[in-house]
Amino acid sequence: MARGKKLIAGNWKMNGLRADGLALAEAVAARAKAGAPRCDLLVCPPATIAAAVGGALVASGVALGGQDCHAAEKGPCTGDVSAEMLKDAGCAYVIVGHSERRAACGETDAVVNAKVAAAWRAGLIAILCVGETRAEREAGQEVAIVTGQLAGSLPAGATADNLVAAYEPVWAIGTGLTPTLTDIGAIHEAIRRNIPTGTRILYGGSVNPGNAREILSLADVDGALVGGASLKADDFWAIAEACP
Ligand code: PGA
Repeated sequence: MARGKKLIAGNWKMNGLRADGLALAEAVAARAKAGAPRCDLLVCPPATIAAAVGGALVASGVALGGQDCHAAEKGPCTGDVSAEMLKDAGCAYVIVGHSERRAACGETDAVVNAKVAAAWRAGLIAILCVGETRAEREAGQEVAIVTGQLAGSLPAGATADNLVAAYEPVWAIGTGLTPTLTDIGAIHEAIRRNIPTGTRILYGGSVNPGNAREILSLADVDGALVGGASLKADDFWAIAEACP
């Protein structure tokens, strides 16, 4: 049901003080308003400025998302942000299981699974990230790793309307490297077999205005999760414009 228009999602990561974030959000919003995008657009800013930048974005039809959430609704979790708090700040989506968190914060599939459930509890759409490391790909384990992460990280109750899957090979994030189109297509096909019919699958990892068109033209690629290139409104918009 959710499949149809592609989804171009920007993950600002830990970038953006209020003034920069507002300027970037306003630039994205202005393009979205003027350009009648063929895709759905989503921006995931740092939680500290989500509310501040959300107004301009949402008014222009660009959805707002969080970059992570805690599994609990509230409580003694110093420094964390709950899915309910993101919802309250105007978010419609939350990224969970990003490889930077799996690696740097030790998030296991079980932890990510609880975060997906938390997103749903709060009424958010979970963007569940999976992806293999360079060593795992070199060992030919990429399909097993990705389907294993999906099996472990996805609670019962997924639908095409509450879930977006994101294939993000760890070695392609922020490196300028991307898998071949054949490899992207093969993993997306494998993911497709393990999620509800119609669920969008994004590709993420060094998507830029130069490679977006060919990646987004693949049948099983329903959009992109964009890091570095989402920090420049022109580049982010060029990726949106590359949607067929
Ligand atoms: P990148 O990041 O586009 O900078 O490679 C993608 C991501 O981590 O979501």
